[in-house]
This record gives sequence, structure tokens and C-alpha cells, in this order.
Amino acid sequence: MNWRIKASLQKILAVTMIGDKLNHLPATFNKNYHRNVFLYQSHECLRKFSYCNSVIKERTTALEIGTGYSILSAVILSLLGFKKVITVDITQDIRFSTFKKQIGYIETMEFLNEIYLKSSYTKSEINDLIAIIKKEKSFASLFESLNIIYIAPYRFDDIENHSDSFDYISSQVVLEHIPPDVLDTLFEKTKKWLTQDGFGVHTINFIDHFANPGFFQDKSISEFNFLKYSDKYWSFWAGNSIAYTNRLSYLYYLELCSKHNLTVINFIGENYRDRVELNINLVHNDVIKKYRNIANPDELTRFQRGTLIIKE
Ligand SMILES: C[S@@+](CC[C@H](N)C(=O)[O-])C[C@H]1O[C@@H](n2cnc3c(N)ncnc32)[C@H](O)[C@@H]1O
Repeated sequence: MNWRIKASLQKILAVTMIGDKLNHLPATFNKNYHRNVFLYQSHECLRKFSYCNSVIKERTTALEIGTGYSILSAVILSLLGFKKVITVDITQDIRFSTFKKQIGYIETMEFLNEIYLKSSYTKSEINDLIAIIKKEKSFASLFESLNIIYIAPYRFDDIENHSDSFDYISSQVVLEHIPPDVLDTLFEKTKKWLTQDGFGVHTINFIDHFANPGFFQDKSISEFNFLKYSDKYWSFWAGNSIAYTNRLSYLYYLELCSKHNLTVINFIGENYRDRVELNINLVHNDVIKKYRNIANPDELTRFQRGTLIIKE
């Protein structure tokens, strides 16, 4: 299906108050939705943390950017030993009834073994915490028990009102939804906020979301199709709160690190699906000019997804 059909529907949904929730609804119809969310969130949260868990010294405060529809990552960060977890989003999308369904999978053996291994708590402390988590009857009591602070919508000042020092800052497929000027502030703040031994770990999806699998997938396009268009054209189709992606590659995030003097420990690029190569000559100049320096434009489509690991 031509990607502009999905884009048109999202444009219409974006002008309604519940557009984002309606856009998310079809995903929840899968009968394994809550189990899949638990498996995905727990796997991704532990995978990201594994890049630093053997070397991170303090677990005082963690910050998650972009909570989304599930609070599980924040809960898992608490189980890993963080004494305070701040999680923020621009929209408030979590529901306690959803959380209750998803937390039902917490005693999966594979998850428990991983958390026992990576947490700073003992096995028995973790089991006690899980018993508390399972008993909670509201977000208010859950957040109080685990010292989780959920702010949505948020501004950077709101975060700083709770803490301006973090041992761990992470996000999962969020940075690609943030415009360049806000990313710039986030990286500037990251430099200020990260403790000396702290880590930032961000997983970023670099592809055109209209090429994502699903009913509306446009199977005829490259997963980097969006790089062909001018900013004006792209903004017309996808410059709304539901569809917005910044079309930036890993190189841009490396440039941001260099600009803000953040140390890049590693960037792990991945290609997780079949590639449909985009003729690099078709990449629009508006895309190229966002970069300070591109030695080889092929790099713009090198990775579909990646994880950036940084220190102050
Ligand atoms: C694809 S979802 C990912 C959510 C969650 N991290 C997950 O893995 O399920 C992207 C999320 O980023 C959030 N988002 C967009 N712009 C943001 C910003 N400037 N700061 C924080 N979150 C943002 C959106 O509201 C949405 O919840």
C-alpha cells in the first residue's frame, strides 16, 4: 500500500486529541500483545544495560527518555538496583490495567535469571521487590515503593527539579522522534547530567517508519525512502505528532557527541531486516546539509538500527 495512505490517516488522527492512542490501538489486538511487550521491553532494557553493567559503579539515579505505552523499563531499572528512576515522555500514555497484564510475565525464568545476574540486589531482595510490585494496586503506590518518578508531558526543567545527576540515561527507539534542536539540548544536558562513571545508552531506529511491517506497510519502498524528500515535502506528509521522525543517521548522533564533548564508548550498528537499497544519488540535499561533514553519503543508509553508548 502506498505510504501516503498511512501518512494521510496519521495526519487526520494527529489533529484529534486521541489520535496517538487510536494509532497505537491495532497493535494491541494481537492476543499475545502483553506477553510480547514484556518480552520486548525486558530484553531491550537488559540488553542496553549489559553494555555497562560490569563497569557501572553507582546505581543512584537513572533517567529514561520516552516511556511510551509501558512502564516496564522503569520497573526493570529499579530491579537492577537504581534507587531512583525518572521516566519522561511528551505524552501520558501508560495505564495501570495494562501494566497489571504485562507484569504477570515477570516470573519468567529467563528474565529472573538475567535480573539476578545483573542486579545490585541479592536474589532474595529481588524476590521481595517482585512480590511488592505484583501486589500494588495503583501507579501511585507502585511509584512510591520503587521511587519511580513519571513525568508526562515534561520539560527539561522538570527533570532537573528532581535530579540533575544521573548514573544511567537510556532510551529505546525514541531519539529518532525528537527534532534536531531538542536533541541538541538533550545531548548538552547529558554532558551536564552524567556522573563521572555514568553511562548513556540509546537505541535508535534509523529507518522510514512507513516501511515498517503491518497492514499499511509500503512494500515497494526502500527502508530509507524518506531520505529522497525535501524537508518541506517530508514535513507536509510526516510533520505531525504521530508520524514525525527526524531522518537522521548514526553519523548525526556522533556529531552531536563530538559537539558536546561526550565520549563515544561504542556505536553498535545493526541491520535487522532485509535491505532494499536506496540509490544514494537520490538522497535530497536537505538531508545531506544537516551534517557538518559527510565523507561518504553511503554511510547515511548503513544501519537500520543502532545503539549508542556514551560517557561524559
Ligand atoms: C516508538 S515510541 C517508544 C516508546 C518506548 N520507549 C518503547 O520502547 O516502547 C516513541 C516514544 O517517544 C516519545 N517521544 C517523542 N518525542 C519525545 C521527546 N522529545 N522526549 C521524550 N519522549 C519523546 C513518544 O511520545 C513515544 O512514546
